[in-house]
Amino acid sequence: MQPFLPTVSIVVPTFNESQNLPRLVGLLDRAMGEIPWEVVFVDDDSPDGTWQVAKQLAREDARVRCIRRVGRRGLAGACIEGALSCAAPYVAVMDADLQHDETVLPAMVAKLRSDEAEIVIGSRFVGDGSSGDGFSAGRAFASRIATRLAALLIGRRVSDPMSGFFAVKREVFEAVAPRLVPSGFKILVDILASTRGKVRIAEVGYRFRSRQEGRSKFDARAILDFLGLLLHRVTGGTVPVRFLFFTIVGTTGIAIHLIALRVGLLAGFSFDTAQSMATVAAMTSNFHVNNLLTYSDMKLRGTAALAGLLKFYIVCGVGALANIGVASWLFDSNESWWIAGIAGVVVGATFNYTMSSIIVWRQQQN
Ligand code: GDD
Ligand code: MN
Repeated sequence: MQPFLPTVSIVVPTFNESQNLPRLVGLLDRAMGEIPWEVVFVDDDSPDGTWQVAKQLAREDARVRCIRRVGRRGLAGACIEGALSCAAPYVAVMDADLQHDETVLPAMVAKLRSDEAEIVIGSRFVGDGSSGDGFSAGRAFASRIATRLAALLIGRRVSDPMSGFFAVKREVFEAVAPRLVPSGFKILVDILASTRGKVRIAEVGYRFRSRQEGRSKFDARAILDFLGLLLHRVTGGTVPVRFLFFTIVGTTGIAIHLIALRVGLLAGFSFDTAQSMATVAAMTSNFHVNNLLTYSDMKLRGTAALAGLLKFYIVCGVGALANIGVASWLFDSNESWWIAGIAGVVVGATFNYTMSSIIVWRQQQN
């Protein structure tokens, strides 16, 4: 018997979308016609049991697959893992909430097949496309600003780079995958920025529908991630997004430190005591903010958070020693005081970041 080999793998990231999946599979079946397809749901262990629904569907239909990810969150990362699990020549990415119009998928695949393009974007802003009533006015405004910013990175005009709906030749995706940032909400922007000018792009219009069941996961965090992605790309992809966040959080720690120091002094503690208490306060605050923001996708909870906090104290303590060591050495070698000071801070921050990533929040790169 000929093994089942799909022409298109449709990767669908999901978080709390259990009610939408059965309908989506039915719609895909109707839309794809003669084209052999499979759908890969990548679920981040949704509390509503989306992965259970997906696996039930998989038991009934060989074209349905599901990757259940545990201990991780993130739309872009889910898309990356899903796409990397595929062997079909073409990979499409779309949302689970029926906002993306599956009936244009065959047209997208046709453009890849005829080699008219290597990436085909489902766009709300070309041809028959429209964003209809799928977005609130505020969200539409934010989307326009983000589109402008993204254009700078991509270096060419694309009508809808923020789209979460696109199809790509698998080999093109495999080539850029190692450079992509898994923590964001906007994977297409990242692909376009990483392949800057090197791939052929086509766009197909579609009508953005209203969400069916469930709620949007777009939030302040998604905006922060997007800004992080921009910074990462502006620095030529050299500075990891997490390091940028880590540094920003560290800067807020200075403010916390000064406030705590002032309060300690006003409360009548000696300078040394107040300074020590302020140091602990700043480290504690940095740990929690980093846990919420920088490492939100691998957030530590409960006793793991407590253990993480203790490890973070140790890492920062050693980092401070490294900072002072380097600065003193440079100062003693007749460098000016501010060069010595900055070098110490850079070494300390880099040490804290690297060791935190390895010891406190264990993870891969980025
Ligand atoms: N696995 C996983 N992990 N999936 C996620 C996560 C996550 O952390 N967050 C969101 N998703 C899934 C949702 O379940 C949904 O299927 C899809 O990703 C998009 O999330 P929505 O919450 O529906 O996003 P949106 O409608 O506000 O925005 C979407 O459409 C825009 C217009 O095309 C996204 O695709 C945007 O990137 C896009 O700009
Ligand atoms: Mn949506």
